[in-house]
Amino acid sequence: MKVRENYNRHARGRRSSRTADHRLNLNARKSVLLEKIKKDGKTHTHGNFACGRGQDALKIMHTFKNDRVDVHNFDFSDVGLDEFKSRSHKHPLSAATHITWKFNCTDLRDWECETPEMFDSASCFLAFHYLNGSENFLRNLARSMKSGASAALVFPDSDFILAEMRRAIEESVEKKDYYAFGKDHDENHLFNIFFSYDHYSAFNSGTEPKLTYYFSLEESISDVPENIVLKETFIEDAQKHGFEVTLCQNASTMEIPDDLAAKMRIDKRRGLSKYEKYALSLYLCVIIKKL
Ligand SMILES: C[S@@+](CC[C@H](N)C(=O)[O-])C[C@H]1O[C@@H](n2cnc3c(N)ncnc32)[C@H](O)[C@@H]1O
Repeated sequence: MKVRENYNRHARGRRSSRTADHRLNLNARKSVLLEKIKKDGKTHTHGNFACGRGQDALKIMHTFKNDRVDVHNFDFSDVGLDEFKSRSHKHPLSAATHITWKFNCTDLRDWECETPEMFDSASCFLAFHYLNGSENFLRNLARSMKSGASAALVFPDSDFILAEMRRAIEESVEKKDYYAFGKDHDENHLFNIFFSYDHYSAFNSGTEPKLTYYFSLEESISDVPENIVLKETFIEDAQKHGFEVTLCQNASTMEIPDDLAAKMRIDKRRGLSKYEKYALSLYLCVIIKKL
C-alpha cells in the first residue's frame, strides 16, 4: 500500500489504551525535544514537517505559548491536513497563544525550499524513514533553516531494528522466507515488523543498497513499507548538508523532566512497563543544528 493512501485511510482511526500509553510515552519525548530546540523570547518561525493530523499541535502550542510564532505545517496527506486545520483552530489553547498556523500539502521527497533561512526551529516526527532515499529533504531542510537553528527528529532506530532482525533469524528453529519480530516480545502487542530473509541477506552482503521492512502498529498503520535509516548514514548526510548532530539517543533512555511528567500526567515512580520500554526502543531521538 502507498504511504499517502495509508495515512489518508487511517486519518480517523481509534486507539486502544495500549496504543494511547505508547503515544503518551512518545509524546513526552517529542515535547522534550521541542523544548530543547525552541529559541526563547523572540518571534519564531517553526517548520513542522510531515505533520500528520495535528498530533503535535498541542505540544507545539505548549512549547511556544509565550512567543509569537508562525508554524508552517507540511504533509502530503490532504485528509490529515484538513483534520489538523480544524483541530488547531478549535482547541481552547489556540486562542490563548500567538500562533499562526500555515498549511502546505507537499510531497517532501520533491519539496523545494523557496525561502532560504526561514525557520528558527523545525521538527520532523515519525516520518523521516518515509523520506529517505532521496537526499532532497535534508538538503532543503538545511536551506530552509537559519544558521544556529535546530531541528528535532524522531525515526526508527536502525541499531535496534538490525539487532532484532538478527535475533529473529537466530532464534527461529526453521529457515523461513519471512521473519518477524515485535509482537509478543516483552509483552509487546503493539507493533510488529516483518522482513524478507533474502532482502536482509542481500543488504548485509552489500548487494542491495536499501533495507525495507513492513511495519504494523495495532489498530493503526498496516503493512506500510519502510526504509531503514542507518544511523551512521544519517549522521554523514546531515553533516554533508551543514548540520551538527547535537543529540542522538534511543527514546527508551531519554529522561523526562519532572515538571513535564507532571503536566502530562506521567507517573515517573511507576516507570515504564516491559512492553512500553520495548516499544519505545524502536525510536531514535535526534537533534541537528544548522551551522
Ligand atoms: C507516522 S505519521 C507522523 C505524523 C506526526 N508527525 C506524528 O509524529 O504523529 C507519518 C506522516 O508522514 C507523512 N508523510 C509520509 N511520507 C510523506 C511525504 N513523502 N511527503 C509528505 N508527508 C509524508 C504521512 O502523511 C503522515 O502524516
